[in-house]
This record gives sequence, C-alpha cells and structure tokens, in this order.
Amino acid sequence: MSEKLHTVPAEWAKRAHVDAAKYDADYARSIQDPDGFWGEVGKRVDWITPYTKVKNVSYAPGNVSIKWYEDGALNVSANCVDRHLATRGDQVAILWEGDDPKDSKAITYRELHEQVGRLANALKSRGVKKGDRVTIYLPMIPEAAYAMLACARIGAVHSIVFGGFSPDSLAGRIEGCESKVVITADEGLRGGRKVPLKANTDAAIAKAGGVDTVFVVTRTGADVAWTEGRDVRYEDAVAEASPDCEPEAMNAEDPLFILYTSGSTGKPKGVLHTTGGYLVYASYTHQLIFDYHDGDIYWCTADVGWVTGHSYIVYGPLANGATTLMFEGVPNYPSSSRFWEVVDKHKVNIFYTAPTAIRALMSGGEEAVKKTSRESLRLLGSVGEPINPEAWEWYYRVVGDSRCPIVDTWWQTETGGILITPLPGATDLKPGSATKPFFGVRPELVDAEGKVLEGAAEGNLVIADSWPGQMRTVYGDHKRFEETYFSTYPNKYFTGDGCRRDADGYYWITGRVDDVINVSGHRMGTAEVESSLVAHEKVSEAAVVGYPHDIKGQGIYAYVTLMSGVEGDDALRKELIAWVRKDIGPIAAPDLIQFAPGLPKTRSGKIMRRILRKIAEDEFGALGDTSTLADPGVVDDLIDHRQNKK
Ligand code: WT7
Repeated sequence: MSEKLHTVPAEWAKRAHVDAAKYDADYARSIQDPDGFWGEVGKRVDWITPYTKVKNVSYAPGNVSIKWYEDGALNVSANCVDRHLATRGDQVAILWEGDDPKDSKAITYRELHEQVGRLANALKSRGVKKGDRVTIYLPMIPEAAYAMLACARIGAVHSIVFGGFSPDSLAGRIEGCESKVVITADEGLRGGRKVPLKANTDAAIAKAGGVDTVFVVTRTGADVAWTEGRDVRYEDAVAEASPDCEPEAMNAEDPLFILYTSGSTGKPKGVLHTTGGYLVYASYTHQLIFDYHDGDIYWCTADVGWVTGHSYIVYGPLANGATTLMFEGVPNYPSSSRFWEVVDKHKVNIFYTAPTAIRALMSGGEEAVKKTSRESLRLLGSVGEPINPEAWEWYYRVVGDSRCPIVDTWWQTETGGILITPLPGATDLKPGSATKPFFGVRPELVDAEGKVLEGAAEGNLVIADSWPGQMRTVYGDHKRFEETYFSTYPNKYFTGDGCRRDADGYYWITGRVDDVINVSGHRMGTAEVESSLVAHEKVSEAAVVGYPHDIKGQGIYAYVTLMSGVEGDDALRKELIAWVRKDIGPIAAPDLIQFAPGLPKTRSGKIMRRILRKIAEDEFGALGDTSTLADPGVVDDLIDHRQNKK
C-alpha cells in the first residue's frame, strides 16, 4: 500500500475532457438520474432510429433483465467507419505494426470502409445472415478488425478465440455458439515464432463439426492443408466481392459479440454483449479515461482475443474516429526496447498495457527504456490485474519520465468497459489504486452475508446498478448468468473480486475471491486446469490454486494425486505441463506441480482449497482450522513437499 499521492498536473486540469469539478457534479447526477445522464451520453453515436427509452433493468432474482436504449436502432460498423468518411476519410484509422519491426502499414478510414464492405459481402455470399455466429481465430493483423466490423455490418455475432488457445479450446467455443463459419490465417507470427492457426482450426473442426466455411488469411504464406469447398482464400473472396454493403439496422439489444471467459466452475462461459449500450459505453469511456483528442495516436497492447482488444483497440477508438495502433508482436522481440521503439516510431501519445508486461520489462532494467525518447507519450494506462505500487512507480518514473498520469483501469469481460478508474484531469493518483468509479457506476463493498459496508472498509466488490456496457446474458444459458452474477448478493452484480476502500473513497482491488486465477492478466478457471489434469491417464485427482508470482501476478500451482503405482518425478511434471498446454493452451500450463498422495478433505469429501492456497502462498502459519479434515495428517506431508517458486 503506497502513501504517495500524485496530484493532477495543472496543464492536465486545463486541457482534459473532465476536470475535478465536473467529475463530482457529473458523477452525482449520473447516479441520481441515470435516464437523464445516459440519455444524453447515448447521443454520441449515430442512430438509425433514435431511442425514446434509456434504461430498463431488473436485477431481481429469477428475473434479471438488462436493456438500454431498447427501442433504438443503429449499426456499429457504420458508427466506427462510415460516419467518419466525410470528416476524416484520409486519416489513419488503424496503424499496424508487425511482429518484424520492418513490417508496418497504415489503413485510412476510407480503406477500412472498403475492406469491411468487401468482407461483409464475402460473408453474405457464403450464406452468413443477421444473428449467425462467426468464429474469428486470427493473429493481430488488420483483418481481425475487418472481420469484427464486417460481422457487425451484417448483424452477424462474432466470437473471437485468442490465437494462443488450443484446437480443443477452439472446438469447444465453435460448438458452444454453433458457428458455421471460421475466419483464420495460415499461421500467426509472434516473437519470430509461427503459430499453426490453420492446422489448429482443421483439428478443431474435425472435433466440433458443423463448420461449412473457413476463410483463410495469408499471413506467412505457409503451405497449409486445404479442404475444397469449405476453405476459402480470404484474399480471393474479398477481391471478388463488392465494396458496397449497406449496414444492417440493428436493434440496440441485438447481440454484437460473444466472448468466452473462464469462471470458477465448469466450461468457459459465452459472455454476450449487445449493440447500443456497449458501443455508447466503449466510446464514452475511451474518450474520457484516455483523454482522447483528435489527432492523438493511441496504442493498447492487448490482443483482440480478449475484451480489452474488443473495447479499446477496435470499438471504442474507432467509434471516436481515433487512430488506433495494432501490434502483432510481443514486448521483448527483437529486444526489450520494442514497446518504446514502437512508441517513438509512430509518435504514440497514449499507451495502455498490463502490469505483467511492466514487471517483465522492469526486471530487464531501465537501460532498454532510457535509450528511447518516448517524448510523444502523454498518458499511460494499466489493466488486467492489480498493479503493485513498485511497478506503478517504475512505469511512472522510467517509462513516463514522471510526466504522464497513469490510469489504472479496473473492469472485466462482463462489464464491457472500464468501471473503476482515474480520470486524468480530475483524479489525484495513488499508486496501486484504481481510484474512483466512472460515471454511472455504483460500486459497493459487502461482507460475506451481503451487508453493505460504509466508509473505509474491505469486502467483496459488487455493483449496485447497471451501466450500458454490461453483459446481457451467458450465451444460451440465462440461468447460469443469474446464478453466477446475481445470486450471491441478490439485486446486485457480483464481480468476484475483493476490494478495499480507503478513507478518501479510493478503491483498491485485492484480487479474485472465487476459484478464478489471474495469470499475466488472463483469466483461468482452476476447475478447467483440474479437469485437464485428471484427463491424463496417470492422474487420479488434482487441485489447482494460484500463488504469488513476481512477473505473472499469479502462477498456477497444481496438487496432483497419481494413480496407484505411478511414481512422480520431474519427467512426469514436464509431461503434465505439456499435456495441459496442449489441451487448453500455454496460458493454462501449471508453473508448479506437487505430487500429493492425499489432499486435505472434509469428512464429506470436499477438498479444502483454503488450506491448499495457504500452502502454495507459503503461509504455513495461517492454515486456519484443520480439525474438520478427514485426515489432518495430510497437511504436514503437503507442507514438507511444497514446490519452490520459480
Ligand atoms: C479480472 C477480469 C478487463 C480487462 C482485462 C481482464 C482483474 C482487471 C484490474 C485492475 C485490479 C484488475 C480483476 C477482474 N482486473 N483489471 N486494474 N486492477 N484487478 O479481463 O479476463 O475478464 O478479468 O481482472 O480480478 O475481475 P478479465
């Protein structure tokens, strides 16, 4: 916890979209009169049919229903592309920086319009209609943005699967939303390494079935297997298609996209976001929180496979007519100066990344940063996990030369956009705190019984009322939506995060309180890793928890009970890590595996994860009551054989 306060610099207070006085007054109004407040904000996007209703929300148990601008009609791609043509057709919309520093290109709004129109028609010619689901499994290339916008243009619902996920994970997501169409590339390129996206797609489809069309972007030119009739060369399809495609009028509550994310139990959930409220919220937060002004060069380093890429690489920035930089590579290739070289090359003004990247670069020393200029930078952002004050100060001092405010933005796949965050002209910063709620957001802290805690307190973070960017349902499973988010604390949205509020009303996120772990800013369900481990023939039982990791924030710690007669050794550890990596994807690979002849269980057979977590965290003194264990002796054995941190 840092005591340091960074006050708003005078020049920021003067030029920013939001100053302190405006924050207090607008925040109060946004909470007291959501209809009036969001009714006005909603006008920032172009509507085909203007809305007359603003908010219609019920969090009531058994009857959760969330609607914003429900009688309005609009098209997201028209808002992100067409409406900028008259005023900024020749302005760069997407600035693409390839994995190889020699590879970059600039796509203007006019070019974007043509590309999106062509792909939209190509999708139509393969039978894609309004409401159909299209799975996108692409690297960070402009075609990923074209694909999202082309779907939005014709009313198809995209589901992007991060390129680091395995064929099995991809198959589950294709099946989950019954996509008949997949858009992929021959291969991806990251840090000089090739990712076999087309081969993965073939393997996924062999498992999932139901796919009749695969568009394949040529990225590396690799020789890939080809299924005649099903596979379509992307370049041919768009060359043949007309660039003119009338945008479909979508109701504000028509689905825009599905994005699968891990929960504390079961398979990943398809988080569903809709059209009107999502776009209003993404564009409004992007403008205010990053203090975006015309002409700024804005760079968010996320991947479009995560929600950050959806809201803050593509939809928010493009709706605002911004120049958004899209980066194909990784922070340390060809060297750990890469981020800052890209900043200098493209004169980036606003830079948004994750704490894990900052910590990794920090461990490489200041020299790699200091040798670059970074004088174009004006604002820095952080997202994905709590940022420790040391990393915050380093980011501020070394990267930002003590000149750029940092916005530590707290949000989730489910929230569609940022909910707790500083506003750079209005909020004094405390390193490590996401500070204050955004307009219209009503955070509360509750105890285990649901009692609302006032003033300085620590508890579970809930949101007491809706905001336009909120998810609407779990695709195909509204019951799971209600159970996951609205049943723990009735009439409130439960975030799954723990949080402290200090005497100044600042929020400090302390991390997940459920069985979700946050590895390098990516969400992983412990249950998913466990079910992958137990699918291995030598494993009889597995329990997975998070533990503090210097770079990743949290690492994955797996306790594994082997089948009788099987000997646990380093070779088997490697085998199991490789197994999970292949089964789910590299982000799910355990960092540490401890072979445990027995797991701590209650007499009714329930694994006591609290104890496993404490052991993994190295807090042997804080195990709590172990007397209810069926066999308290297993705990000592677990402590004796604890694996060391990497
Ligand atoms: C979880 C959501 C939303 C973008 C990326 C992650 C954690 C996110 C912060 C932050 C502390 C944060 C929370 C949250 N988280 N941002 N600024 N400070 N924690 O999206 O995969 O849906 O994960 O990430 O634990 O619940 P996600």
